[in-house]
Amino acid sequence: MKFFIDTGIVEEIVQAKEWGFIDGVTTNPSLIAKSGRTQEEVISEICQIIDGPISAEVISTEKEGMIKEGAELAKINDNVVIKLPLTEDGISACKWFSDNGIKTNVTLCFSPLQALLAAKNGATYISPFIGRLDDIGHDGMRIIEEIRHIYDNYGYPTEILAASIRHSTHVRDAAMVGADVSTMPLKVLKQLFKHPLTDSGLEAFLRDHAQSQNK
Ligand code: E4P
Repeated sequence: MKFFIDTGIVEEIVQAKEWGFIDGVTTNPSLIAKSGRTQEEVISEICQIIDGPISAEVISTEKEGMIKEGAELAKINDNVVIKLPLTEDGISACKWFSDNGIKTNVTLCFSPLQALLAAKNGATYISPFIGRLDDIGHDGMRIIEEIRHIYDNYGYPTEILAASIRHSTHVRDAAMVGADVSTMPLKVLKQLFKHPLTDSGLEAFLRDHAQSQNK
């Protein structure tokens, strides 16, 4: 499974890169707004830090605007992936980008049928939002399972990017049901390391070692 960090804060990406297992980055307009910087600035800087797919989302809601904006973003770096909303215009623009060899991430996906449309138009990634589905009492992980099943039935190469991840259990479950990628905030990446038995075990090893040195 690939791990992406979901943030527009460059310092967080620098910190996560140290661990050695970050494969890419996702952003969205809300995350970019939190950075207080322009999307172009943030994306250009991220491309200098991470050598992997970096998703940058269009703001336009009409196909022509999405194509114009996305084509500009794609010029920043070959690693830039154009993030498009799962609307009629977004899906239609997705086809244009795939026909023109530009990678896409179709976002705001909440159903397997939406995911099927994205795959049919050659999306590189589909982003089902697990946490937001759970928030309204649905089973977010079930959507990932269903998309996996459908994509495998037909051999679609579109990668399933589990998004809107809120805690480490989401990451475990997404890996269990075969998502290709999990994107998560720094806070969740840090949770992946944690187990109380690791902490207490290490404490005991260090205590025993210190006692043996004092003999
Ligand atoms: C990533 O691509 C998504 O935009 C992000 O994971 C959404 O997460 P949220 O539901 O916590 O805002």
